[in-house]
Amino acid sequence: MNIIEVKNYEEMSVKAAEIISGQIKEKPDSILGLATGSTPVGTYKKLVEMYQAGNLDFSKVRTVNLDEYRGLPKESDQSYYYFMQENLFKHVNLPKDASFLPDGTNPDAAEECKRYEHLVADMGYADLQLLGIGRNGHIGFNEPADVFKAETHCVRLTQSTIDANKRFFASEDDVPREAYTMGVGTIMKAKKILIIASGGDKAWAVKNSFYGPITPRVPASILQLHPNVTVIADKDAMSEW
Ligand code: PGA
Repeated sequence: MNIIEVKNYEEMSVKAAEIISGQIKEKPDSILGLATGSTPVGTYKKLVEMYQAGNLDFSKVRTVNLDEYRGLPKESDQSYYYFMQENLFKHVNLPKDASFLPDGTNPDAAEECKRYEHLVADMGYADLQLLGIGRNGHIGFNEPADVFKAETHCVRLTQSTIDANKRFFASEDDVPREAYTMGVGTIMKAKKILIIASGGDKAWAVKNSFYGPITPRVPASILQLHPNVTVIADKDAMSEW
């Protein structure tokens, strides 16, 4: 595991964007695994700047996202579909049919999870998977549990995640209670993993994921078993290290 400590959110974003752009330059038809949340916003901004400066070409890239809320229409400004359009896709030359997310509007959870798992598998899984980390150590929506779930599945959000995400919604009642997410097995099949963390509220998760026992109670701890993981964490996120 390659652990890079940086000063702050800005430095984390620059470093992460450099690694992602390096991946695209090395393999222009890379499959990028992408994440939502506040952590990757700065990284996407840097990638857009690199594209606008003529230094990056997404024309052969394809993307698969980790997760999506179940039951939100795509056009909702809280859907992850919308987030990806606004923060990255509409600003770069990624072809329209080259980005994939679970379909939160499919009410048939079993069918949707199977479809998405097969789609990612048929693409050969991500070449580089970008991850944020939840305050409770979740990755995607793989919440602390008694067992690791390998494949794409439907989850009930924990109260901790609802609390963390309610800031984006008009009220707590508006936060969807379920989501479709890649499983830890889907994530672990990515060839490389890049995990980014910023702020003191991630310090517990960073310490327990990378220095604690491997346990489904701290889902990101499974990444200790992956052969190619880079963690970029700022000083505050490393403060319990
Ligand atoms: P955040 O979420 O980037 O909004 O903190 C990260 C996550 O929950 O994976």
